[in-house]
Amino acid sequence: MLLRLTYQSRNLLKRPNGSSELLNIVRSAERNNLALALTGALLFDKDQFFQVLEGEANRVTGLFVRIAQDARHTDICLIDAKSVFDRRFPNWSMALIERPLAPLAPDSFSADDLLNFMCDQLAESSGPIKVAVPVW
Ligand SMILES: Cc1cc2nc3c(=O)[nH]c(=O)nc-3n(C[C@H](O)[C@H](O)[C@H](O)COP(=O)(O)O)c2cc1C
Repeated sequence: MLLRLTYQSRNLLKRPNGSSELLNIVRSAERNNLALALTGALLFDKDQFFQVLEGEANRVTGLFVRIAQDARHTDICLIDAKSVFDRRFPNWSMALIERPLAPLAPDSFSADDLLNFMCDQLAESSGPIKVAVPVW
């Protein structure tokens, strides 16, 4: 069994769209997540981050605790954490969805809605819409 954890937080980066800070986060994720066999996706929308982390339970929890202490975001809110059999992002150490193609309606989504939204974005978008870090 794996753990899939989803949280939301408020961005504290000044100009995150296309900024090198966002890329720094993804570079850390690429390096560390690959070493820990963790996968997932990070969605940046308006001033919110939404992140899904999946992998071995202790590793996911440990990384979440570290991420939650990161000064680049605040108001961390755990949306969902559950045991699952399969990964939804098996090919991404951390896929960054920087400018979603469709707006997210934050008042009316469940954890599963969010997951499906992220998967759809990755399936449909191309080129500059996403920066994604594939697992190799
Ligand atoms: C929104 C957000 C998402 C992050 N996601 C990850 C992640 O998936 N993996 C990771 O290792 N670090 C992530 N980080 C960065 C960690 O908080 C931390 O800075 C990093 O793991 C430190 O490792 P390093 O010294 O190797 O860069 C994230 C930070 C933020 C603000």
